[in-house]
Amino acid sequence: MSIIKNLVEQRILEKTPIWLMRQAGRYMPEYLAVRKNIGSFLDMCYTPEVASEITMQPMKKFNFDAAIIFSDILVIPDSLGINVDFVKDKGPVLSSITSVSELKNKKYKLQKIYEAIKLVSNNLDKHKSFIGFAGAPWTILCYMIDGSSSKNFSKTKSFIKNNKKEYAKIIEILIDSISEHLIAQIDHGVDVVQLFDSWSGLVQPEDYYDVIIHPTKEIISRVKKQHPNIPFICFPRGSSFLYKDYVENVGLDIIGVDEFVPLWWIKENLSKHAIIQGNMDPYILLEDKQKIINTANKIETALGRGKYIFNLGHGVLPTTNVENVDYLRKNFGN
Ligand code: CP3
Repeated sequence: MSIIKNLVEQRILEKTPIWLMRQAGRYMPEYLAVRKNIGSFLDMCYTPEVASEITMQPMKKFNFDAAIIFSDILVIPDSLGINVDFVKDKGPVLSSITSVSELKNKKYKLQKIYEAIKLVSNNLDKHKSFIGFAGAPWTILCYMIDGSSSKNFSKTKSFIKNNKKEYAKIIEILIDSISEHLIAQIDHGVDVVQLFDSWSGLVQPEDYYDVIIHPTKEIISRVKKQHPNIPFICFPRGSSFLYKDYVENVGLDIIGVDEFVPLWWIKENLSKHAIIQGNMDPYILLEDKQKIINTANKIETALGRGKYIFNLGHGVLPTTNVENVDYLRKNFGN
């Protein structure tokens, strides 16, 4: 059985599993070498041999306990007919929408991701976990309405207040597409799934149940109806005190915690309800080796072996030194 499934089902493990969000990416020379030869970022995601090769790069180099399929949360808007571009030094740029009538069905594009999952699944050691993922409805909506990365996604916030009917229709479509996408990934070989809600921290507390908790709960319930034993990781980044309401309500197995939540608060409020994943500030990987290992071990000791999966509080920074990642992998938990 794979290591994360084992943790969720047995709650005992000799070693704390370790993987990193954005473990495949720009800090790795191997990734940059592949990327140089491919036209666009989405072409990399939609070319099964390339996506599977990139997925395996950090597994070969660091022997992490889990692989995460190389893809992006923005393949969902792309599969709904929204034009998605990744512009150098700017990030994603989307042809933003204001009404549900602008959406089209281009879900056939996602088949290439499922082919990549099959390729990885055939090559991955069965003790390793294989993680599929999707963005959560709110975070995907932020990109669909604002059209690019933003500090506050104010267009999206205004949209959900002032266009309640359109908002409700778009959210239903997103719940359908995201659930189907996660189920298809499981059908093709992933054995854990993660939902990324990178911008949940922007939602006001009085809207948090409707905008964040309700759609997430619905997705988990649909996926678990088809695959009752799939471990579900959710990462509602920036949720602060609302992490508690989230963990108590959505029906997850593992909660991804960002670096802004103190360890004592996590233990007191989240550890009884879920396995914890994450929490180390990605910036720590830019520090010296002793600092890195001391910080990682301190988090593991506080949260407890068998109740924790090592990860960062957000993705690996592109300026991270590969040697530091290697040192962390080899020395953590010894
Ligand atoms: O973790 C992994 O190794 C799997 C691959 C993965 C990518 N994106 C590849 C990627 C995952 C899990 C994601 C998730 C994702 N994508 C999120 C949620 C997590 C988070 O970071 O908050 C979000 C918000 C996106 C949307 C997105 N994709 C943005 C904002 C950007 C540009 C900014 C950036 O960080 O580069 C991307 C591009 C992207 N997605 C890259 C990679 C490796 C960089 C592409 C490149 O320039 O080579």
